[in-house]
Amino acid sequence: MTQDNTLSPGQARAPGPSVADTLNADRQPPPSPLLKSQYDFLGDEDIPFERYTCSEFFQKEMQLLWPKAWQWACREEHVPDVGDTYVYDIGPYSIIIVRSSSEKIDAFLNSCTHRGTRILAAEGSGYSPAFTCPFHGWSWELDGAIRNIPGRWDFPHVSEESHALQKVNCECWGGFIFINMDPHAKPLADYLDVLPEHFQHFPLERRRIKLHVQKTLPANWKAAQEAFMEAYHNFETHDSPNGGNTQYDIFGKYVSRFIHNIGNYSPESLADYHGEKFRKPPMTEDELLAFLGVYGLDSGTVPEGETARALVAQELRKYFGKLLGVDFAQVSECLMLDSIEYHLFPNMFFFPGINIPMAYRFRPNGEDVDSSIFDLLILEPLAEGVGHPEPPDPVVLDVDQSYTEVEGISWLGPVYDEDTGNLAMQTKGFKTSRKHGLTLGNYQEARIRRVHLTLKEFLSHENSLD
Ligand code: FES
Ligand SMILES: [Fe+2]
Repeated sequence: MTQDNTLSPGQARAPGPSVADTLNADRQPPPSPLLKSQYDFLGDEDIPFERYTCSEFFQKEMQLLWPKAWQWACREEHVPDVGDTYVYDIGPYSIIIVRSSSEKIDAFLNSCTHRGTRILAAEGSGYSPAFTCPFHGWSWELDGAIRNIPGRWDFPHVSEESHALQKVNCECWGGFIFINMDPHAKPLADYLDVLPEHFQHFPLERRRIKLHVQKTLPANWKAAQEAFMEAYHNFETHDSPNGGNTQYDIFGKYVSRFIHNIGNYSPESLADYHGEKFRKPPMTEDELLAFLGVYGLDSGTVPEGETARALVAQELRKYFGKLLGVDFAQVSECLMLDSIEYHLFPNMFFFPGINIPMAYRFRPNGEDVDSSIFDLLILEPLAEGVGHPEPPDPVVLDVDQSYTEVEGISWLGPVYDEDTGNLAMQTKGFKTSRKHGLTLGNYQEARIRRVHLTLKEFLSHENSLD
């Protein structure tokens, strides 16, 4: 493969049609945010392996990142009624989210103000008319105010100001409840960047959780999420003919995106890989239609003047329209079909698509530097006027379990197995290398670099104190 040396770093792109070319050729134009692109070269230095493997670095994240970063804890439909609670754990920290009144959601550190005992035991949904510590029975109202202290006579030094439950910032966006443990945190809006503007077109609050899978992964939380931030791995990991022609956007310090078209191919799949493994480009429209058969739709012949992409999008409009009672007639091919993935620093992903409608969260698994917890939500659009049903409990998978064990996950099961199958090998390889760190592509892997640059700022004391 030759390189064009007249281009500056980060300017080169894969051969073949770009995402913009594909979207401009579609019948239904996508909403304007999907036609935007924004990329700047961010450097090409290696990322030190120790960021993934070193327990001192991990502890620094525990002190300077997680207690100071906004992160989604649960969905609003987890706490619809007064007294509904949700416990969210991150590293050694635990937070209680509670619907404290019909109008208000509050969040508190899950720790008794007497001698520190955890108040609610397990992560997940619950209900409490008030909070009571299991040790000596101190109790608090849902808004965190002291309710009762047994043996009050012995605590003249305890007051509402000093011993109410410890508040945690709590804000909602897109149907998600976000928390931030830092009393001096800037508002969530300062971190969301383009998300509110873009997602006006894709209201995630009008979705329900169809499926929640929670799996332990054998890698540091950053390595785990990075397996989902580029489509460069598609050729090798997924045996896909489609990967290079993905658009990567970096909107700021906290938000990035990729748009990965479904229903086309990348010419480089033959040039750079072992030809026999892949379908020979150019694939015919009939071959593309057959390839898209993984989406459970009919394959066959694409009529003259039609494209597989347009046909499959039309099938999806019909299929989901009937299934969900939502009119998708005017919805673009891009939204119906494509993998559109927004990332919010440090560890959250939102997909506005209809066929690929997920939200992800990757977080440390307790205090283990080498493993992480991956929460995967499938978010299905709600029909007009329909309220949120009760959300399903998460299906919990251990590190060795396959996604194919999850009922209702369909074609995504094997894909997630492929995506997460590399992680244990990568973690081992990190520790074997003589190299200083991992090397990233200037364009396709720039989102990973963006996260590391922002992380570096968080871990510097200047930022942590502002
Ligand atoms: S530790 Fe909670 S009541 Fe004593
Ligand atoms: Fe993948």
